[in-house]
Amino acid sequence: MEKTKVAIVGLGTVGTGVARLLLDQGDRTARHAGRTLWLEKAVVRDLKKPRGVDLPKGVLTDDLSEVTDNPEIKAVAQLIGGLEPDRTIMLKLLESGKDVITANKALLAEHGPELFDRARELGRSIAFEASVAGGIPIVAAIGQCLSANQILSLHGILNGTCNFIVSQMDHHGASYGAALAEAQRRGYAEADPIMDVDGSDAAQKLSILAHLAFGARVHWRDIPREGIQNLHPVDLKFAAGLGYRIKLLATAQLVGDQLELHVAPQLVKIGSPLADVRDAYNAVRVVGDAVGRVWFHGLGAGQMPTASAVVADMIDTVVGRTAITFRTLELWSQRPASVLPREFEAVAGRYYLRFDVDDHPGVLAEIAGELGRHGISIASVIQNEPLEDAAGRVPLVIMTHKSTQGAVAVAATEIDRLDSVRGRSVRIRVHD
Ligand code: NAP
Ligand code: HSE
Repeated sequence: MEKTKVAIVGLGTVGTGVARLLLDQGDRTARHAGRTLWLEKAVVRDLKKPRGVDLPKGVLTDDLSEVTDNPEIKAVAQLIGGLEPDRTIMLKLLESGKDVITANKALLAEHGPELFDRARELGRSIAFEASVAGGIPIVAAIGQCLSANQILSLHGILNGTCNFIVSQMDHHGASYGAALAEAQRRGYAEADPIMDVDGSDAAQKLSILAHLAFGARVHWRDIPREGIQNLHPVDLKFAAGLGYRIKLLATAQLVGDQLELHVAPQLVKIGSPLADVRDAYNAVRVVGDAVGRVWFHGLGAGQMPTASAVVADMIDTVVGRTAITFRTLELWSQRPASVLPREFEAVAGRYYLRFDVDDHPGVLAEIAGELGRHGISIASVIQNEPLEDAAGRVPLVIMTHKSTQGAVAVAATEIDRLDSVRGRSVRIRVHD
C-alpha cells in the first residue's frame, strides 16, 4: 500500500493521542485514506521527558529541521499551543512545503489572516477542525455540510474546562478551585487556564465559527466576554430553584443585518438540550434558513476526542480534500466582511439579578424604582433567607422581562450605589 509520511510537532496531551491513533490504528486510518499514514517524526522540546506512547526508534527528535528538511513528510500536526513559537513554526512548516493541521484556536484567532494568506501564497493548506469543540465536527459541518444555508444563529458550549467546572460545582458541590485543578489534571485546560475560565478560549472559538458561518471578521478580543471565575455557588442554587442551570454560552446571532456576538454565563432552562450538557462535553445549536435547527454534542476537550479530529484532518489533508475546501472557502482573505457586529448594549434579553441587601422596609421599593426608571419590567422577585454570616443582609433575586444589556448594566450599577445594597450585584442573562 502507498505510504504517506507525516509528522507531529508537540507531544503533549493531544499530540500523544494523535501518535497513539496513527501507531495503534494504522489499518483504520489506511482504510479511510487509501494509504498508510506513516509517522516519520515527532518533535518535542525535551527528549528525556516520559511520553505516554511507545514511539518506534528514530521517530522522537528535538530538531524541527528533521521535519522541515525532509521533503517526504507531506503533512504535519502542529500541537504545541500558545502564540509563539507556534506562529513561527507554522510559517516554517508551510514554507518548507508542508500542509499543516492545528488544534490551536488561540493562534488562528490572533494570526489567522497572516497564516492563511501565507498558506494560500505557498499553495499549502491549514486544517483546523480540532480547534473548535474538540471531537465535534463543527468546522466541517458549518464550512461544508451546511453551506446551502444562511446561518441565522449559533449557540454553543465551547469550553470543556468551564463546563466541567460548573458541572462539578452544580452537581457534586465541588469548590471552584478543586474543579479547576481536576480539569487541569485531566488535560482539558489550556497551559494558562485563565484563557479557559475568563471566556477568552470560547471567544477565540466563537470568532472562528462566526467567520465560517457569517463571514464576520471580528477579533476575539472585541467579542464582549465574561467568564466563570466569579460564579457563586449560590447563584447555581437559586437558578436551579427557578428551573435553570448556568452554562458558559457563546452566541452568534443575526439580528437584521447585524451580528450579535458574546460569551457569558447564561441561565438555560432545565429540560432543554443545552442544560443537559455536562462535564467536558460541548454542544452547538445551529439554525440555518434551509435546514432549520441542528444540534451537535460531544466531548469538547481531552486527549482522544481532540486527536480524533486531528487525525481526520490528517486523512483529509493527505488525500487532497482539505486543499479543495481550503482554496474555495478563502478564509481570512482580503474579502470584505459580510456582516458587522451589533453593539453589545443593544443586545436584548431577560435577566437574573441578585442583590445583597439590608433586610429592612423600603429596600425592595427602592430597587424596583431604579429598574422602572430604566424601563426594566420585573417578572418575579424572590427574597431568600439570609446566607450564612449575612449580618442582617439578604439575597434578593429579581427576574426581569426583556430589556437590553445596556439598560440592565446602567440600572444595576446605580442600584449597587444605594446605601441599602452591599457589594456588586450579579446579573446573568437568560438564554431564551
Ligand atoms: P500540552 O499538553 O501542553 O502539549 C504541548 C506540547 O508542545 C508539549 O509536549 C510541549 O513539549 C510541546 N512544545 C512546546 N514548545 C515546543 C517546541 N518549541 N517544539 C516542540 N514541541 C514543543 O498541550 P495540549 O493540551 O496537547 O494542547 C495542544 C494544542 O491543542 C493547544 O493549542 C490547545 O489549545 C489545543 N487543544 C487542546 C485540547 C485539549 O483537550 N488538551 C483540545 C482542543 C485543542 P514538552 O512536552 O517537552 O513540554
Ligand atoms: N481548553 C479547551 C477547553 C480545550 O477546555 O475547551 C479544547 O479546546
